[in-house]
Amino acid sequence: MERTYLMVKPDGVQRGLIGDIVARFERKGLQLVGAKLMQVSQEQAKRHYAEHEGKDFYDRLLAFITSGPVFAMVWRGDDAVTAARQLIGKTNGLEAAPGTIRGDYAIHTNFNLIHGSDSRESAEREIGIFFDPSELADYEKAVQTWI
Ligand code: TYD
Ligand code: MG
Repeated sequence: MERTYLMVKPDGVQRGLIGDIVARFERKGLQLVGAKLMQVSQEQAKRHYAEHEGKDFYDRLLAFITSGPVFAMVWRGDDAVTAARQLIGKTNGLEAAPGTIRGDYAIHTNFNLIHGSDSRESAEREIGIFFDPSELADYEKAVQTWI
């Protein structure tokens, strides 16, 4: 079973899209193991986006992700990383396919509603930045056999 780190960004929280977004991952069959509304600190933002340091959009990205509360989540499932990235859609909302989260609600690249880990390794790294192990639930999902 793989885990992935997903985060509704400040624009998604402000636009009242938390419920819609959570419903999509539930419907897909992924299992929610942790979630919280939180303010990202400058330090967490820098660790999370370390791969983008030095790029022209980096400062704007840090300012955006720390601009208001985010809804941080950990989901589990077979190929959870890929499954979640497919539901999220391409980085640029204009290129993201309709039916994906970004395709349905985003037009730009900078305000694109949600983050999803891009590999198993980044998922484990990102979960460590935002969650303490004690905040994650360990339980069996009864219907998982059927998905
Ligand atoms: P990236 O990891 O490339 O995209 P994704 O979120 O799809 O994994 O980039 C991280 C975030 O940085 C992206 O969600 C939005 C922002 N960003 C920009 O503002 N401008 C850009 O040109 C790119 C590539 C990303
Ligand atoms: Mg990324």
